[in-house]
Parts: sequence; C-alpha cells; structure tokens
Amino acid sequence: MGEPARLSDYQAESGCLSIIVLGASGDLAKKKTFPALFHLHRQRFIESHDVHIFGYARTKMSDDDLRDRLREYLTPRKGGEETHDEDVSKFLPLIKYISGPYDADEGFQSLDEAISAYEMSKDDKGGSSRRLFYFALPPSVYPPVCKMIKRFCMNKSEGGWTRVVIEKPFGKDLESSETLSTQIGDLFNESQIYRIDHYLGKELVQNLLVLRFANRLFMPLWNHDNISTVQIVFKEDFGTEGRGGYFDEYGIIRDILQNHLLQVLCLVAMERPVSLKPEHIRDEKLKVLQSVIPIKDEEVVLGQYEGYTEDPTVPKDSNTPTFATVVIRIHNERWEGVPFILKAGKSMKSRKAEIRVQFKDVAGDIFKPKRKGRNEFVIRLQPSEAIYMKLTVKEPGLEMKTTQSELDLSYRQRYQDVIIPEAYERLILDTIRGDQQHFVRRDELKAAWEIFTPLLHKIDNNEIQSLPYKSGSRGPDQADTLAEKVGYVQTHGYVWIPPTLSAV
Ligand code: NDP
Ligand code: BG6
Repeated sequence: MGEPARLSDYQAESGCLSIIVLGASGDLAKKKTFPALFHLHRQRFIESHDVHIFGYARTKMSDDDLRDRLREYLTPRKGGEETHDEDVSKFLPLIKYISGPYDADEGFQSLDEAISAYEMSKDDKGGSSRRLFYFALPPSVYPPVCKMIKRFCMNKSEGGWTRVVIEKPFGKDLESSETLSTQIGDLFNESQIYRIDHYLGKELVQNLLVLRFANRLFMPLWNHDNISTVQIVFKEDFGTEGRGGYFDEYGIIRDILQNHLLQVLCLVAMERPVSLKPEHIRDEKLKVLQSVIPIKDEEVVLGQYEGYTEDPTVPKDSNTPTFATVVIRIHNERWEGVPFILKAGKSMKSRKAEIRVQFKDVAGDIFKPKRKGRNEFVIRLQPSEAIYMKLTVKEPGLEMKTTQSELDLSYRQRYQDVIIPEAYERLILDTIRGDQQHFVRRDELKAAWEIFTPLLHKIDNNEIQSLPYKSGSRGPDQADTLAEKVGYVQTHGYVWIPPTLSAV
C-alpha cells in the first residue's frame, strides 16, 4: 500500500479552506469536532497552508482561552505519541475565536470579516474560497444561524463553495423535522447540506456495503429464505449523566434508534445500488425506509433505568425511555417475514454496538438434537471491531459431537498496525471533499421520522409506559421475551471472546 491520499489529491479547486465551528464553547465541539480536525491536520489531510479554523459562540473568551480549553482533548493516538506536542503546537495557532450571538448581524459580520481577511492573506493562491460551517449547536438555533450565514458569510468567489454540516437531532417528529428542513432548505441547496449521523462514519458500518456486495458468498443467502432475524444492538454501560436535560426531551428512540440504528438497518437491508455514487446508494436506502410497515405496539418494549429521575434536570414523573426494543418489519420481496429487532439502552451491563444476522435452522437437520445453536453472522461495530460467523462444527475428539465455533476476523488482530479513524474525522473529510454518500438526505430523514412518529407520539402521551430496569442489567426481561417471540434463538453457553494480541 502506498501513502494515504491527502486532501490535495481530491481537490479539483484551489484556494483556502475555512472551517467554522459554531457552538465552539460546547461539549461536542471540544470532545469530537476539534479533536477530529486535529487528527486530520496531524495526518496532513488538512494542511496548515490551506486551512484556517474559526470557533464561534456567545461565550466571551480569547483565542488562547479556546485553545487552552481544547488542549486536553487533543490526545495522542497510537503512532503519533512521539510528535504529539509538536503536532498540537502546529494545530492550535490555526484556530481563531469570534464571539457573538446566533441571531444578530454584528457577530456574523465580524465572522465574515475574519474569514475574508484570512482569505485575502492567502490571495497568492489565486483560487476560490471554501467555507465549511459545522453546527455544534442545539437545533433550536439552526434556523437563525442559517439565515445569518446566508446573509453575511457565504463564499463570494467564483468556483468556491459554502457547506453546512448539521448534527442530529433533526427535529423531534415528522412535523418539526419537516419545518426545520424547509427552513434550512429555503436557504441552502440539498448539495450544500450535510446531515451528519456519525454511525455512518464508523469503519464497520462502511464495510457493510463491501461485505454484502463484494462477496458472492452472501448474495444468495441474504434474504427471508435463509435469515430468521436481524438484531441491531446499541448498549452503553453509563447513564445520561450530564445530559439529562437534553435526553429527557428526546429519549432513546430519538437519540439512537431513529437515526443511528435505522441508518445501519438501511445498509443491511438495501438492494445493490446501481453504482457507488452517493445518490444511487441513498436511493436504495430510501426504498428500504419506504417499505417499512407501521410498528405494532405489541412489538415494542420500553424501559427506564432505576435512578434516572434522580438527575435534578429530569422531572420526577418522567416516562422517557432510556431503553427500547422495537421490531421493524420491511414489506418487500427480500425481507417479508424477517423481524429487524432494534435494541438500544443506556446504563446497561456493557458497552457495545453490533449487528447480528441469525440464519434459520437447517431443514431436515440430521444432527438434531445434538446441534447447539444457529449460524449467526455478527458485525461488531464497537468496541473490539470484528466480523465473525458462528458455525456448528465437530468437537475435536473421537466422538461425533457438535459444538459452536466461529470464523473470526478481529480487526485488532488482523490489522495490528492500522489505526481505525474516528467517525467524525472521516465524515468531516467527506464534507471537504464534497462526498455526500455517508450523510442523510432530506427524503431519507422524512421517511425515518414517518416510521417512528406515531410511536413517539404515543410515548409522549404516556400511552406506552417505560418499564423499570436495574442499572448494569440487560434491560427489562420483556425485551428478551419479545426477541424470542419474534424468532430470535439465543445460544446458551456460547460467548465470543475477542482474541488478545498475545494469543497471536
Ligand atoms: P451544548 O449544549 O454543549 O451546546 C453547544 C453550544 O451552543 C454551547 O456551548 C452554547 O454556546 C450554545 N448553546 C447552548 N444552549 C443554547 C441555547 N439554548 N441557545 C443558544 N445557544 C446555546 O451542545 P453539544 O455540544 O452537546 O451538542 C451540539 C449539537 O450536537 C446538538 O445538536 C447535539 O444534539 C449534537 N450532538 C451532541 C453530541 C455530544 O456528544 N455532545 C453527540 C451527538 C450529537 P454559547 O453559550 O457560548 O453560545
Ligand atoms: C450520540 C448520542 O449520537 O451517540 C449519545 O446522542 C450516544 O447519547 C452517542 O452516547 C454514542 O456514540 P458512540 O460513537 O460512542 O457509539
């Protein structure tokens, strides 16, 4: 393998790049956005002579105050430890901070002046200006901020561009999402809007397309004739600490299922796109969403971990789910009858995200009742990224006994020298390159809200109750019962253990 491609390899246009982080004083900015920019810079995907970074928020602080705040979040990565201090000292001076409100002219006029001054200082490049606005802000301020950008801060050069990256949640239900989409859509073209869902930037989520469509092995198997259930699971072993106020307004369905898990489902279930062009892929994802039939109340289990309402920012009588299992059914030729079990929970026993494709039993199986468990194809998104296939094999020895084992591709073992990039790094780079494949299109967003809005309204009206579950547990027992009822067969006594490096 040669050198990784740099940004300049992809740039048809020349000129300077301004990355503007709106809400630069906030949590997402310091934990994800700036660190992602740092690592892109460190690896020379964005270069000092091309790029300048502007932080914008209401908080009054100097350039150095912001740089000092960010410093502790710019942590070294494997392979970058030795040059870390030098890398940080090259990166931080690229950041300038401008303070201002989100809905008044002055702040955005100052921002535009600062960007223009930088662009003029780079005039020798004689190219166009490229302006990337990253909204690390609560969605309530997206509309005024979009208006201000449109009025004062658009790229003014020929051949340059202005792009906006907006974070989830995009609305709270179908209606509010459509209102938001219209407000933003009146100001920017769809090609300028990058709706980020960071799960689409995860290494193993990006691998789904390759696995499914570059391996002959899976093509004839990937349908209702062979697959019994698909589970897409997200678990965190911590609660909503520090984000209780936000979380209580949204709940686990809006926070995780409607976006991250549904996007993964689309990639698992979609038909082969005509090509790898972003629009072809997004067309196929949309068809999946449009084929989902209404969710049945009896195929939903909600939970709330005990102690959730002790957070002072959460009302004592909150019914907001911190756990949900929801069965999604896709009415099309490939998936008729196959339940897609989406499951997500906070404050669970462990932290992991995975896709579990379970195959049907062998027809006329000659090994029954000795057989122990079904074939399962598991894609472990995090932690310990892996792809493994659970198989039934003969137990080594003189007797003809069967046991469960696996064909295992553990990334840590197989790709020891490879550093898996953070989702945000990849997605920011895609935005600079103008590649919208891993971003959510407006019609996809609408279709995703259409699926969940009726259920969300029932929850908001307390028509479906969240069952209590203990922190550190698997969630309510009823969720396991539901998964079993719709066809998932748990293999007891089998546990996949990620290989350790010492075992290599
Ligand atoms: P914060 O609450 O930290 O807000 C970011 C900044 O926005 C704050 O520093 C503040 O800056 C300004 N702000 C906060 N509340 C308001 C308000 N009511 N009106 C105007 N400005 C306000 O948010 P996060 O950084 O956590 O999240 C930003 C966005 O990213 C949100 O849409 C969130 O849902 C999304 N997100 C966040 C994740 C995370 O891990 N934090 C993960 C995934 C998505 P100032 O007062 O200085 O102007
Ligand atoms: C965010 C959610 O989108 O994803 C958080 O708002 C959640 O509640 C986070 O913790 C999980 O992301 P990851 O990449 O750590 O799985």
